[in-house]
Amino acid sequence: MARIFSGIQPSGELHIGNYLGAVRNWVALQGTVDAIYCIVDYHAIIAAYEPSQLRERRREMALGLLAAGIDPEQASLFVQSDVPEHTELAWIFNTVAPLGELERQTQFKDKSQRMESVNAGLLNYPILQAADILLYRADRVPVGEDQLQHLELSRVIARRWNAQFSPETNFFPEPEAWLTPTRRIMGLDGQSKMSKSTGNTIGLLESPEEIWAKLRPAVTDPKRIRKTDPGTPEVCNIYHLHKAFSAPAVVDHVAHQCSTAGWGCLDCKKVLAESMETELVPIRRRAEMLRATPEAVNDALATGAARCRTLARETMRGVRDRMGFD
Ligand code: AMP
Ligand code: TRP
Repeated sequence: MARIFSGIQPSGELHIGNYLGAVRNWVALQGTVDAIYCIVDYHAIIAAYEPSQLRERRREMALGLLAAGIDPEQASLFVQSDVPEHTELAWIFNTVAPLGELERQTQFKDKSQRMESVNAGLLNYPILQAADILLYRADRVPVGEDQLQHLELSRVIARRWNAQFSPETNFFPEPEAWLTPTRRIMGLDGQSKMSKSTGNTIGLLESPEEIWAKLRPAVTDPKRIRKTDPGTPEVCNIYHLHKAFSAPAVVDHVAHQCSTAGWGCLDCKKVLAESMETELVPIRRRAEMLRATPEAVNDALATGAARCRTLARETMRGVRDRMGFD
């Protein structure tokens, strides 16, 4: 059975960007492949943080993922720091990762420019990500488009390590992304990627009222000024969200009403809010149930970590053996 691995930072809430770009696909894939999903708390400490907040966010992310539909019977869900081999393999990969490629990563360039002092963790972030994936020798990685460059680097690292330590058998596979049609969700400002750090998100567990308060002023087709102006659905962020949440017949109808000025943008947003409710109501309900039974979250993480520790140890035996550490 093919094995997939993916990770998410415990950086506050799940929002419809990381849900549509990755987590919805995680749910769809579980049961069809050997699926391993990780809350990457070691990645999250690269920026300054409060220890008590980290604990809280880890729990909240686990709860959100289970509410979104991750089923611990069908997928292994765990916290990265519960499996210490992630950092052991990351150190080893430090010794084969090319510095030039690390420095060329867009995320590193963007973030380091905005910081006064840059720690080495920010530069080495993709090395830990490569270790996450390769520790389980996973070949597919369901992620959003923003992770493609990191995955390219994971392949370089696998290739270099294999060339040096396992030239005959290629111990590590070269992992490929598993993208969805909603690989890049824009924020409600229509300007940049939906992301917690930009503050342009809709949280997966927000109430219908909170969601509507954000959808109502959200940017649409910038050329559509009056209700009587026909719009161009393809340039409208709300239309893209319809494609993610509404049934195909509704999407066609929305496109028609927009391009013939049959509906104003607010009409279109109301229909989107309804489609979103259909998908979000059961998620909210599961989240409430999980809040009432915190042991269910703990059990899921403990089971996931136990299985992943066994797999991780097995891989590290192979690595140590090939590198002369046995
Ligand atoms: P993060 O929340 O940044 O840890 O990202 C978790 C996963 O969600 C990664 O696979 C990202 O590629 C994906 N993701 C995050 N934001 C977006 C977005 N706005 N559109 C599509 N995918 C996203
Ligand atoms: N860098 C990813 C993000 O910010 C999170 C991540 C860490 C990850 N390790 C991973 C994603 C391994 C996929 C596979 O979203």
